[in-house]
Amino acid sequence: MNTIQNEGKRLAGRAAMRYVEPGSVVGVGTGSTVAYFIEALAERRHDIEGAVSSSEQSTRLLREHGIPVLDLNATGELPLYVDGADECDPHKRLIKGGGGALTREKIIAAASRRFVCIIDPAKRVEVLGRFPLPVEVIPMARSHVARAIVARGGQPVWRDGVVTDNGNWILDVHHWSITDPVALETELNQIAGVVCVGLFARRPADVVLIGDREMA
Ligand code: 5RP
Repeated sequence: MNTIQNEGKRLAGRAAMRYVEPGSVVGVGTGSTVAYFIEALAERRHDIEGAVSSSEQSTRLLREHGIPVLDLNATGELPLYVDGADECDPHKRLIKGGGGALTREKIIAAASRRFVCIIDPAKRVEVLGRFPLPVEVIPMARSHVARAIVARGGQPVWRDGVVTDNGNWILDVHHWSITDPVALETELNQIAGVVCVGLFARRPADVVLIGDREMA
């Protein structure tokens, strides 16, 4: 990653702080951009009640920064979820899951009133799909799901050696130009053995911060 891209992540991570409400519980995503957000959040840790975390990685980071990690079952709906993305189209629809945390990320996004996505400019695309689409699968369904994806024109590659926080496996689908992300997300969700699709189109981001600028 180059310095400019890193600076974009840092600026976006810090810019998301303006959406954090005092006394609230904040939903926290996963990844290197989110790590900058956690750093900024730590500076205001006494102003918030705590965080709901989307991965073991973020949980560790939050605790290292002295931020209490709360259970989503105990907090109810959250006012805010902040997370990065691997790609973002002009409609704020996303590909996520490069870090393997897509399922918990999608759950927290669904349980939050506002989803603020933080990215560096390199993540912007006109059409989703240049970044391989992650699909989390139940291990015994890996081949079945892969065949179903091939039948739909995708090229799935098993992320060999990676086990998600939920004990599942990931297929990364290459060479798919995703012209109708809502339809594809809906369709892939129906394949038996699919736990989660890394398309965030049915529930896109509400706000996208590119560096410190908000996308119109
Ligand atoms: C993890 C994700 C991340 O948000 C995505 O991979 C972007 O990561 P980074 O901020 O490191 O570029 O979806 O599952």
